[in-house]
Amino acid sequence: MAILVTGGTGYIGSHTIVELLDEGYDVVIVDNLSNSKIEVLQRIKEITKKDFKFYEVDILCKEALEEVFKTNSIEAVIHFAGLKAVGESVAKPLMYYNNNIVGTLVLCEVMDKYNVKKLVFSSSATVYKMSDYSLTEDSELGATNPYGNTKLMIEQILRDIYMSDNSWGITLLRYFNPVGAHESGLIGEDAVGTPNNLMPYITQVAVGKRRELSIFGSDYNTHDGTGIRDYIHVVDLAKGHLKALNKTLNENQIEVYNLGTGKGYSVLDVVHKFTKSTGIDIPYTICNRRPGDVSVCYADSSKARRDLGWEFEKGLEDMCRDSWKWQMLNPLGYE
Ligand code: NAD
Ligand code: UD1
Repeated sequence: MAILVTGGTGYIGSHTIVELLDEGYDVVIVDNLSNSKIEVLQRIKEITKKDFKFYEVDILCKEALEEVFKTNSIEAVIHFAGLKAVGESVAKPLMYYNNNIVGTLVLCEVMDKYNVKKLVFSSSATVYKMSDYSLTEDSELGATNPYGNTKLMIEQILRDIYMSDNSWGITLLRYFNPVGAHESGLIGEDAVGTPNNLMPYITQVAVGKRRELSIFGSDYNTHDGTGIRDYIHVVDLAKGHLKALNKTLNENQIEVYNLGTGKGYSVLDVVHKFTKSTGIDIPYTICNRRPGDVSVCYADSSKARRDLGWEFEKGLEDMCRDSWKWQMLNPLGYE
C-alpha cells in the first residue's frame, strides 16, 4: 500500500516525501511541474537512497489521475498540489479557483471511486481573520484574497464530504510560515522570480542576487516596529504530516490542526539571526507597510502537541542556517 502525494515535487511536498521514505512508506507522486522541477526527484533519491513512482499528471485531468489509482494500491493521499501566491491569486482569481478547488474536487471524486478515503490536506494560517494574535483552531475564520478563499472553501468541502460519509478520515493542517530546507542542502524552496516571502528574499540578498531587503513597515505595535510571524522549519512541518497521516489512517473523523512553533519573530529578529548564524550582513531599507499585512500572527499549536504528539525541534537559527545552505549550494535553484 502506498501514500499518494499530490504536489510532491514542490517545496513542502519534497521534504515530506523524504520523511515518508525514511519511515518506510511506499510513495507515489503526482505533480504537473507547474511550480517545481523534475530534478527534485533525483535529489530525494540521493538523500533517502530509496525509490518511488512519479507521474507527471495534472490533478484536473480525471482520466490521468484515475490511471494512477488503477495501477497503484493507494492507502491515503497527502494533498499539497495547489497554487499559492497571494498577489497572483488577486490578479488571476479564476486560475486559482479552478486549479485549487476543481483540482481538489476531481481528486476527491477519484478517491471516492477507488475507495481511498484517507486524506491529509495542506491548509494555511491565511484562513484566519487574524482578530487574535495567538491563533487557535477555533479562532475566527475569514480570508482576504482568492488564495485564502480557496483554502477556506476546500476546508468546507472536505467537511461536507465527511458529513455525507463518516468512513472518510480527513486532517486539515494549517501551516504558519514554513522556511528552511533539508540539512543536506539538496532540496529547498526554489522561488521563481522575485520572492514574495521574507526568508527567500533574505537568502537571495545574501547570495548577491538582490541588493537589499525592503522591510515592509517599522511602525507596527511590536518590540521593534516590524511585523511578527511564526516561522516553522520545513522539516518539522514535514514530520507533522507523518503524525497527521498516522492518526488519519487509524481514525475516521475530520480534524484540523495548526502547525507552527507558537513563537513569534519580527522581521528584524530574522535579519539579525540570519547574520548571527551565517556571518553575512543583510543590507535593508525600511519601506511602507505591505497592503494586507497584519502586525502579529502566531500559532497556538497545543492541539497538535496533545493529539498528534507532534513537537517542533528546530529553532530560528536552524531555519536561517539551512535556508542559507540550500541557497548557497543552489544559487539558481534546481536549474
Ligand atoms: P509549491 O508550489 O512548492 O508546491 C506545490 C506543487 O503543486 C508544485 O510542485 C506544483 O507544480 C504542484 N501543482 C500545482 N497545481 C497542480 C495541479 N493542478 N496538478 C498537479 N500538480 C500541481 O508549494 P508549497 O510551498 O510546497 O505548498 C504546498 C501546499 O501547502 C500548497 O497547497 C500551499 O497552498 C500550502 N501552503 C504553503 C505555504 C507556504 O508558505 N509554502 C503556507 C501555507 C500553505
Ligand atoms: C505570506 C502570505 C500568506 C502565506 C504566508 C506563508 C501575503 C500577503 N501573505 O504571509 O498568505 O500564508 O506568506 O507562506 O503574501 N516582509 C518584508 N520584506 C519582504 C518580505 C516580507 O518586510 O521582502 C515581511 C512581511 O511584511 C511580514 C514578514 O516579513 O511581516 C513575513 O512575510 P511573508 O514571508 O511574506 O509571510 P506572511 O506575511 O506571513
